[in-house]
Amino acid sequence: MPDIHCIGICTGGGDAPGLNAVIRAAVKAAILKYKWKVIGIPDGFDGVIWPERSFELTLKHVSGILPRGGTILGTTNRGNPFHYKTEEDGQEVVRDISDQVIENVRKLGIDAVISIGGDGSMKIAQELYLKGMQIVGVPKTIDNDLCATEVTFGFDTALHTATDAVDKIHTTAEAHHRVMLVEVMGRDAGWIALGAGLAGGAHMILIPEIPFNIQKICDHLDLRERYGKRFTIIVVAEGVKLPAEMRHMSRTGAVANLIGDAIALISHKEVRVSVLGHIQRGGSPSPYDRILATRFGVAAVDLIAAGGFGKMVCLQQECIRTVSIADAVGKLKTVDPKGEMVAAARAIGISFGD
Ligand code: F6P
Repeated sequence: MPDIHCIGICTGGGDAPGLNAVIRAAVKAAILKYKWKVIGIPDGFDGVIWPERSFELTLKHVSGILPRGGTILGTTNRGNPFHYKTEEDGQEVVRDISDQVIENVRKLGIDAVISIGGDGSMKIAQELYLKGMQIVGVPKTIDNDLCATEVTFGFDTALHTATDAVDKIHTTAEAHHRVMLVEVMGRDAGWIALGAGLAGGAHMILIPEIPFNIQKICDHLDLRERYGKRFTIIVVAEGVKLPAEMRHMSRTGAVANLIGDAIALISHKEVRVSVLGHIQRGGSPSPYDRILATRFGVAAVDLIAAGGFGKMVCLQQECIRTVSIADAVGKLKTVDPKGEMVAAARAIGISFGD
């Protein structure tokens, strides 16, 4: 068993509801179960680039944070110590400052680190592990697209937010007989769109995994009209791939705006677009996310106690397990276009625009 007296915790990448619940559980388990000291590393690995920013996390710090969104430690999706961008003489310079980070962790008296983050943070954790850092991972993303774990905390809360939005769009779409698009997050995978589309009773769902066609969307609008339905709700994942005929259109803003314009042009129907954006990353975590995050936090501390460095906690078949970070990174879990969830959606008349 490793000789541990003090651990560090950092949160990296985009935030997700439940980060504070992980921090709280890890701090409590470290102090109450193992009598360790805990250091909070602010703003991802940036916090060890400037070690003076780190501070001791006590039970008092984590009191009352369970229902809070965000992260009391702060986060960043930039600070990669292996490709650290700085400005020198007005020029952007990229440096590998990982040795300095490892030395700073040692100077802070930290024996092992819990890195809570998405794929990017796990890649950094793996590289630091290979350089000798005693580090374990806790997976996080609202997109729920990490292969190694069945679910990531934050996803359930984001799904609630997106579903609530689709419910609200329903009444106004019906009242005005409009086609309404709701764009949700999901850079590479359509889990939020598919989930919110099913839960919110959407009529069409566009996801990155299923190529769509604008004419097919318009045909579906016509079909609905023939059934006497004068409104349509389309849930769009932000990462949806534009069809060839639309790729020349510049994409600076939300993709749903482009799709909405194209639908209006072809169908001559009244179209409105709502882009949910970062609302999905905020708010109080759902009970499911609080529980999963708490289980992950405790499991990460137990993993350190057992010397399981270079590993990440995960959920498999409803049980908390561990996988090596090396096996977990870079493997995305995407929606299976031929899978049961898509088939269920199609069976109840939902179109994927294909
Ligand atoms: O990875 C989660 C996610 O929510 C994506 O769906 C989205 O594209 C991204 O984060 C946005 O991140 P940010 O605005 O923080 O760069």
